[in-house]
Amino acid sequence: MYDGDIAFVLITEQQINDKVTELAKQVDEDYRGISGDLLLVGVLKGAVMFMTDFARALPQPAQLEFMAVSSYGSSTSSSGVVRILKDLDRDIANRHVLILEDIIDSGLTLSWLLKNLSARNPASLEVCTLLRKPDAVQVDVPVRYVGFDIPNEFVVGYGLDYAERYRDLPYIGTLDPKVYTAGV
Ligand code: XMP
Ligand code: MG
Repeated sequence: MYDGDIAFVLITEQQINDKVTELAKQVDEDYRGISGDLLLVGVLKGAVMFMTDFARALPQPAQLEFMAVSSYGSSTSSSGVVRILKDLDRDIANRHVLILEDIIDSGLTLSWLLKNLSARNPASLEVCTLLRKPDAVQVDVPVRYVGFDIPNEFVVGYGLDYAERYRDLPYIGTLDPKVYTAGV
């Protein structure tokens, strides 16, 4: 699939599976005995693969909600100004909420999301991201669970796209530069 487009496989399917299982186990321990089901909030579209795998790996019941947001500005860097494209379907007041993110880069999107959701008075609000880039460390966003810290390179696969392609790859990799120059 996508022959020759992937320059380097950064994280294999097996490594993703192992990490998702490990994160789910940790979350299960931390949320044992909460009142009500844990509410997972996946950020579309990038977190879809992570969300579905994570929910199935989690030993305790969880409910699934999705949000879609878009940040204004260029497509490669985040401005921190965020627009809700699809809001949650239900009220999260007094619920234990865990945001699932595919990747945190500047952290601006997440910072906005945390502010927005915490205003809805959840019982608790935490973040679990599969990937984190180096710049994210500079921003003061509390991220309780991190799968992999990766180098500052653009990655695709396992939900992450370039021009809506490559989300369906089962692994995470970097793109061959020819892809950027050829256009789609
Ligand atoms: P910030 O900078 O606000 O942005 O943390 C996070 C969002 O930026 C996108 N993003 C990427 N998407 N490969 C992608 O496919 C990448 O390497 C990458 N880095 C950032 C992504 O939408 C994420 O939610
Ligand atoms: Mg994208």
